[in-house]
Amino acid sequence: MLKQVVRLLMAALVVSIPYAAAAAERVVDPVKSWDNHLKTWAVVGTVVYLTVTIPLIYFVFKYRRKHKDEDGAYIEGNTGLEILWTIIPMIIIIMLGVQSWAVFNDLREVPKDHIEVKVVAFMYGFEMYTPEGIKTLNELRVPVGNVKVNLTSKDVIHNFALPAFRTREDMVAGENTYLWFYAKEPGEYPVYCAEFCGSGHSSMLAKVIVMKKEDYEAWVKSKQSEAATATLTPEAKGKNLVESLACLGCHGIAGETKAGPALNGLFGKTEELEDGTKVVVDDAFIKEKIADPKAKPIKGFGHIMPPNMLTNEEYEAIAAYLKTIK
Ligand code: CUA
Repeated sequence: MLKQVVRLLMAALVVSIPYAAAAAERVVDPVKSWDNHLKTWAVVGTVVYLTVTIPLIYFVFKYRRKHKDEDGAYIEGNTGLEILWTIIPMIIIIMLGVQSWAVFNDLREVPKDHIEVKVVAFMYGFEMYTPEGIKTLNELRVPVGNVKVNLTSKDVIHNFALPAFRTREDMVAGENTYLWFYAKEPGEYPVYCAEFCGSGHSSMLAKVIVMKKEDYEAWVKSKQSEAATATLTPEAKGKNLVESLACLGCHGIAGETKAGPALNGLFGKTEELEDGTKVVVDDAFIKEKIADPKAKPIKGFGHIMPPNMLTNEEYEAIAAYLKTIK
């Protein structure tokens, strides 16, 4: 009997070792290991379910009471059976445990050759920074390869979720968390905020754009030269400000209402304030609204806009930009 137990345990370990070995070698694609893991659980779960349910239904009918005063047989137990149905689940659980541990390691141990980017969440959007320091909004461009993403938040808890890469991680103000993913193929992959963070939670959508190495390098160069030759018109400056101050997390520019009103067509419009007074959206109102958003809240929206102290030239640039989007 003891020999049999030892043999079964050895068998369990032999099946589990490849998973542990894969983790040790670090040739890792978490998407694959997750999917295999899910399949294993689905198969094991189905087999266990059927093994229990089919005999259960069969016995319910076979041993049902057939006469009113019939007594069931008194069964003491069966040592062999009890040992068997203790050992088998134990082996299954050890295997699943080892596999889970290996998958967890895949997700937490960043392979040595990786690039490091940074993502900062705010209500409501993601600021992304490439290793070269290029800042983008709700759009993370990376070359093919392993990417470590350092995460933090400016305000409440958000969660950086990458379903295509089978990973996600909380983003907490004052703390640095991380995740990594293997950007295998060029393409666009969705990013979601997976932690309910306020009224704009559902608009916290972004994307990871995986590019071929040479395309990525060309993009970095073009961004860097763009920044170097920045003699911009007020309109273009205003556009940059609206994008870099992350206004677009809460304001649409295609007529859509998010946490705040859409910015296109806003200039020159008459808006009703919470106290019922009507105001025309002009240069002065825009300046006041950006500097002290709570002073004149527009009816129908919350009070979540943060104040931004800018220079007069910057307020004017934003107003100039708003005039151009109808
Ligand atoms: Cu940020 Cu939900």
